[in-house]
Amino acid sequence: MRFENKVALVTGSSQGIGAACAIRLAADGADVILNGRKLDERGEALIKQITDMGRKAHFIAADVSKAPNVVQLVNDAIAVYGQLDILVNNAGVEKNNDFWNVTEEEYDFVMDTNLKGVFFGIQAFVKYCMNEKREGVIVNMSSVHEEIVFPHFAAYCASKGGLKMLTRNLATELAHLDIRVNNVAPGAIATPINQKLLNNKEQLNSVLENIPMKKMGTPEDVAALVAFLCSDDAKYITGSTHFVDGGLTYHYEEQ
Ligand code: NAI
Repeated sequence: MRFENKVALVTGSSQGIGAACAIRLAADGADVILNGRKLDERGEALIKQITDMGRKAHFIAADVSKAPNVVQLVNDAIAVYGQLDILVNNAGVEKNNDFWNVTEEEYDFVMDTNLKGVFFGIQAFVKYCMNEKREGVIVNMSSVHEEIVFPHFAAYCASKGGLKMLTRNLATELAHLDIRVNNVAPGAIATPINQKLLNNKEQLNSVLENIPMKKMGTPEDVAALVAFLCSDDAKYITGSTHFVDGGLTYHYEEQ
């Protein structure tokens, strides 16, 4: 129970990686604040699953792509159980389009969710930690695409590349406050964001061909890494990106 008496906020946790992170943190003892744009049956099922595990769970509906909303989310999350120890910035979106056709609306949708929301969410959490003189742990859900290219997903890559430097910068700026910040960079993980790919056998096979382990990862694989980084086992780890990608990022194809 490494997170006993800790409270964690996981953004975008109705499904996929965020839901797995919420469940894993709860399994390790945390009470959890769940978030999504709205509470639906997935969020309700998750609350039940976590309370059945003997932990507390509360859902706050908020669109993290708007700075005032994400600030409100963090402040509301603190108010629910009177404390916040762990912030997992998981919510993220992508848009597939040729670079020359990307609209401002598509760009803003991706950048505001994946980068701006994270920036101002962390800011609100840091202000709380400073005021209350509390330590804090932050994990940002980045992607292998903070490091490797993804043609037709330019805004997504820009957002995750931005997260890479945001994490490096904040880790340095916040270390003296006992606030750690790290990125988790998943490779190809079987979640609803990849539903089209999962439904297309040919495309899926060519993606798997490119992964040394020849399989996709699971949300639980990612959640295990997030839980480690949030724990005291990682108390000397800050400012870095941790890949969970079956070897995808730095693989080499022998000719
Ligand atoms: P998903 O689409 O299954 O889940 C994302 C969740 O975030 C959804 O519940 C969605 O409603 C929520 N969300 C999106 N925008 C939001 C907003 N503005 N406010 C509040 N909630 C919002 O996606 P998945 O696969 O679980 O991805 C989670 C994170 O992992 C994302 O940041 C994604 O970029 C990253 N990632 C995923 C990979 C994968 O292969 N699935 C690979 C690399 C990174």
